[in-house]
Amino acid sequence: MDMLSLIIIILIPISLLFLLLPFLRLLILLSTACTTSKRRRNKSSAAAAAAPLPPGSMGYPYVGETFQLYSDNPINFFADRQNKYGPIFKTHILGCPCIMVSSPEAAKFVLVTKAALFKPTFPASKERMLGPQAIFFQQGDYHARLRRLLLRAFMPEATRGKVAGIEHLAVSALSSWDGHTINTYQQMKIYAFNVALLSIFGKDEMSSCIIEELKQCYYTLEKGYNSMPINLPGTLFHKSMKARQQLGQIVADILSSRRRKGNVEASDLLASFMDSKEALTDAQIADNIIGVIFAARDTTASVLTWILKYLAENPNLLKAVTEEQMEIIKCKEGAEDKALTWADTKRMPFTCRVIQETMRVASILSFTFREAVEDVEYQGYLIPKGWKVLPLFRNIHHCADNFSDPEKFDPSRFELPPKPNTFMPFGSGTHACPGNELAKLEMLVLLHHLTTKYRWSLSGSETGIQFGPFALPRDGLPIRLSRKANAN
Ligand code: HEM
Ligand SMILES: *[C@@H]1O[C@H](CO)[C@@H](O)[C@H](O)[C@H]1NC(C)=O
Ligand SMILES: *[C@@H]1O[C@H](CO)[C@@H](O)[C@H](O)[C@H]1NC(C)=O
Repeated sequence: MDMLSLIIIILIPISLLFLLLPFLRLLILLSTACTTSKRRRNKSSAAAAAAPLPPGSMGYPYVGETFQLYSDNPINFFADRQNKYGPIFKTHILGCPCIMVSSPEAAKFVLVTKAALFKPTFPASKERMLGPQAIFFQQGDYHARLRRLLLRAFMPEATRGKVAGIEHLAVSALSSWDGHTINTYQQMKIYAFNVALLSIFGKDEMSSCIIEELKQCYYTLEKGYNSMPINLPGTLFHKSMKARQQLGQIVADILSSRRRKGNVEASDLLASFMDSKEALTDAQIADNIIGVIFAARDTTASVLTWILKYLAENPNLLKAVTEEQMEIIKCKEGAEDKALTWADTKRMPFTCRVIQETMRVASILSFTFREAVEDVEYQGYLIPKGWKVLPLFRNIHHCADNFSDPEKFDPSRFELPPKPNTFMPFGSGTHACPGNELAKLEMLVLLHHLTTKYRWSLSGSETGIQFGPFALPRDGLPIRLSRKANAN
């Protein structure tokens, strides 16, 4: 045998292995993703069981349609199947049999009206990484309690007091970008991280070195977030889990230092969680603090990244936003205190519509996951116990019946409120986003200073979308940003 064939014989399996690696990785992930795909029929649910399954294809045995989902852009995967089968269809991805729903009514049924029958569900490895007692994974009384504490810290009355702190973060973020080419998404993540930390721990803690330590640990945690859940020394997952333990310790340290100080008037999330009447354990508090950082940072950063892209591509809209924001500055001319106020943020209707339209077109959370806790019948179809149920937000937001010319970026469509259940960028029902006021506020504050003082241009390839897991412009949208000549 000559040398060449030998090389080929050796190389082919190796390169095949590399080609298959992403799929092997997925398969290992699958095995932890789905624990309850087998089910036993229960006589008392015989009525629902008599109904047929929704239409759709379950794909190949075991792997189902996972390859189709990952080899294609997920957007097309869902849209194609909706066109073929209608607004409720079955499929099989990541080792789980799933029912996908894409009508406003069905999403309401799953998330709101019958929320008790559809519990949140995540792969066990993600639960371990974020903290098993974090709000996302809960149902019932404990969930309601956590939610009340979160809403108390993030409701408008509480968020109001944060405007000055957020403005400070926005101004310093922008000036650090001045004159540079930046990766928009990476920088927005830093901004959104800081805003989240401010609202969790309050202004006094922000400059402490323990917060710096917390950030470093969080970065280590997130590096392993999408890795294979194999907890052996040396793996990314192992490093993440260790960082997770350290994070728990850091939160415990902050808790005990605050208990020593007896700082009870604070209006931040930590104070809300520490309320002695609520009797949360330190572990419960840590899981939820880390959970909130996770929920708050990449989501808000993705939306901000899309806004900068859409504004750069639509000069007329950018002009209108800038004019609205300049108006607020003009009103303050001569005033001693030029700081942005909560009332100012209520005088930004056009900018708000740009944010809404961005959340519709980009639909950064294309869908969410639930699991049926018993056999459920919906519109003559069976949703079997143990199956995943996915409300497809993106499909609902891109439905031409309710959003004419749906791919077009047109904020004026929000001059009239959208029809019920057709627009849910923050979800709906018992698990709807409790941070939505804060998210809108931090976006408005950043856009105020950005549009009135800076200009930016896109410097990368301008099309393309990636999922990580949130929808994001390709490469995180590299831009070049500089201060306007006349900005004061
Ligand atoms: C524009 C930015 C944001 C978007 C688009 C967004 C979207 C969402 C959505 C769709 C859900 C519901 C998920 C589901 O039903 O499965 C959710 C839940 C949640 N969000 Fe947000 N979010 C954003 C920002 C934030 C911020 C800033 C915070 C914290 C301050 C936050 C905290 C949470 C929490 C704790 C939950 C879980 C609620 C529960 O399970 O009861 N989010 N978010
Ligand atoms: C069948 O379901 C009912 C209600 O959903 C439950 O009370 C009962 O324990 C179940 N029986 C079995 C054998 O699982
Ligand atoms: C459009 O919105 C209405 C009102 O929420 C809803 O009943 C209808 O199903 C939606 N159309 C589609 C195709 O989703």
